[in-house]
Amino acid sequence: MKSKVYLETFGCQMNVADTERAATGLRKSGYDLAASADDAEVVLLNTCSVRERAERKVFRRIAEIRSQSKRAGRQKPLIGVMGCVAQLEGAAIFADAPAVDLIIGTRATDRIPSLIERAQGGEAAVIDLDERQEGEVWDVSPTERRSPYVALVPIIEGCNKFCSFCIVPYSRGREKSRSALEIVAEVSRLRSLGYKEVQLIGQNVNSYRPKLQHGLESFPGATSFSRLLRAVAATGMERIKFTTSFPRDFHPDIVCALEEFPNLCDWIHLPVQSGSNRILKAMRRGHSAEDYCQRIDGIKQAKRRLAITSDIIVGFPGESDADFESTMRLVEKCRYDGLFIFKYSRRAGTPAASLEDEISESEKTARFLALEQLQESIQERIYADYVGKQLSVLVEKQSARSSDDMTGHSTCHKVVNFRANQTQPGAVVDVLITQAKPYSLYGDLMTSGSVN
Ligand code: 5AD
Ligand code: SF4
Repeated sequence: MKSKVYLETFGCQMNVADTERAATGLRKSGYDLAASADDAEVVLLNTCSVRERAERKVFRRIAEIRSQSKRAGRQKPLIGVMGCVAQLEGAAIFADAPAVDLIIGTRATDRIPSLIERAQGGEAAVIDLDERQEGEVWDVSPTERRSPYVALVPIIEGCNKFCSFCIVPYSRGREKSRSALEIVAEVSRLRSLGYKEVQLIGQNVNSYRPKLQHGLESFPGATSFSRLLRAVAATGMERIKFTTSFPRDFHPDIVCALEEFPNLCDWIHLPVQSGSNRILKAMRRGHSAEDYCQRIDGIKQAKRRLAITSDIIVGFPGESDADFESTMRLVEKCRYDGLFIFKYSRRAGTPAASLEDEISESEKTARFLALEQLQESIQERIYADYVGKQLSVLVEKQSARSSDDMTGHSTCHKVVNFRANQTQPGAVVDVLITQAKPYSLYGDLMTSGSVN
């Protein structure tokens, strides 16, 4: 009888997808998966290092697991660190957190079962920071997926962009695209299993560049990514979303594909990071504010309205009041449906780490709040415009706020709540929006929808 393993995930969707893949491999090798750390002989933490706070969380969690097992008079579980912190810190983690037995890099997912075996066999400080093996397929069993309706489908791993603030190219390595044949086959399989939505994921999905064009032959398009979008749309999957897009590689043909296929959803996440050309240059983004706004104009001219969301970093080293003001003006111009704002966090090993981090924490907070307030006022008007309109909603679960309400996401990726406690999760329903809240919409059910 093999041990019970508990997998805990921090960070982005790529980590969620990698955990699903790890769980699939563990089950195949005969391991059981536990529902909590208390219940497990092996605890694996899939970690994030994009900002300092995320990284600190992991070390707190390791201490917590250790003290909990001590308090309960149980043997400390075998503790493994996987994901970005593992890849970046490597063996240094053993010194910083002696409770850790196992370090699993971002490309070692498929080797986890044998790494656990080695650690359980008495080998100390087991570590694997190697590359994925040639020919590895992204195999995820439906039972290990987080949702039975929405599936994450990685299409590209890693990043070649080296934005000066970002640790991802170091933690996730170079861009590696999955074969289109494999992706399309996976989406078709998910459709036959009853999934209603796939989210094609990657650090930069629109930089998708497979070695071979296999699977894309019958699909026209200006780039491999827009051809892939058409190929995935042709599977008939009900809803297809994709995230994240990188501005410099955002070809207008992506918008053409969205116009051709209604199952390609009306939402684009296109992070700008700053509205100041001086800062964009220091960030090494490879685009100016004008290039970016031109792309946004193209998206806004689409035949159907496409929701746009973005990420912005405030307090990058050297960001002046005037630079921040340019960011505010860009946000006013772009009128985003949603915005993720981050305070700059210095990441050792990145080019920006050697710049003096001269923006004080209080200044970062002030800029964060000012930008948040501006976004809220824009968002309020955008959300208010939905009142009286009908949205197609994939029902996910009962609302946490009220047991009479169900909650889900629209095709434009907004949270929609509605009164209808008989509606089954997994149904796609039409909801007439009656009320706009700051971060969600509320409405009445129009159709009963189907779950099959
Ligand atoms: N500090 C703050 N935010 C960061 N991001 C990436 N690196 C950093 C950093 N060092 C943000 C970017 C990116 C999002 C996923 O995280 O806005 O788009
Ligand atoms: Fe980081 Fe830039 Fe790559 Fe995005 S594109 S993951 S911000 S380096």
